[in-house]
Amino acid sequence: MPQVRFLGHSCITITEGEHKLVIDPFLTDNPQATVKADELDVNYVLITHGHSDHVGDGIAIAKRTGATVIANFELANMCAKEGCNIHPMHIGGRFDFDFGSVKLTIAHHGGGYGEDASRYTGPPVGFLVTIGGKVIYHPGDTGLFYDMKLIGDLHKIDLAFLPIGDNFTMGVDDAVKAAEFLQAKKVVPFHYGTWPIIDSKPEDFAAKVTGSEVVILKPGDTLEV
Ligand code: NI
Ligand code: MN
Repeated sequence: MPQVRFLGHSCITITEGEHKLVIDPFLTDNPQATVKADELDVNYVLITHGHSDHVGDGIAIAKRTGATVIANFELANMCAKEGCNIHPMHIGGRFDFDFGSVKLTIAHHGGGYGEDASRYTGPPVGFLVTIGGKVIYHPGDTGLFYDMKLIGDLHKIDLAFLPIGDNFTMGVDDAVKAAEFLQAKKVVPFHYGTWPIIDSKPEDFAAKVTGSEVVILKPGDTLEV
């Protein structure tokens, strides 16, 4: 059974046996982070898009641990230029790794690395991670899109994270619709409360979702999928 740990904002780790993955490891300067970037030991670093609250400490972690960065072609190559091992992919593509598989989905959002997000990192993506027979969906930053219905129809999702913070991503009501499209067994709200501008209430989300179990995780909490 894969163990999923929420580390605040959009950062999660997925652990199954010797396989250790981190997605969007924004820890330094993340007011929600309960773990230091130096403490993380992983084999893979998955990054949804180039924004600093998602790349975060990813490059430093990958260089320190030798972990492979999985990201879209443009962002992965930027990480390679910074000294990381990489596995570039792109939207719609799936690949079998030693831990399971990863498929890249669309996300409606921006990209770009650096303080002013001006370094080109390709389009944002989401990840469908299959590990230990379970399917976990990390959509990255995105607004609501109707193809989430297709993603839900094509994949039996055990656990889906959904941003609810509004302003930069979908807010509560659109995330409720997203949950309806995805038909995941469990949904976990994230990307809220990190700063006042994305201060949504996860209880509002939980009260409105029907058809999936809503699990509210505090930073540091672990969930068995
Ligand atoms: Ni973003
Ligand atoms: Mn973000």
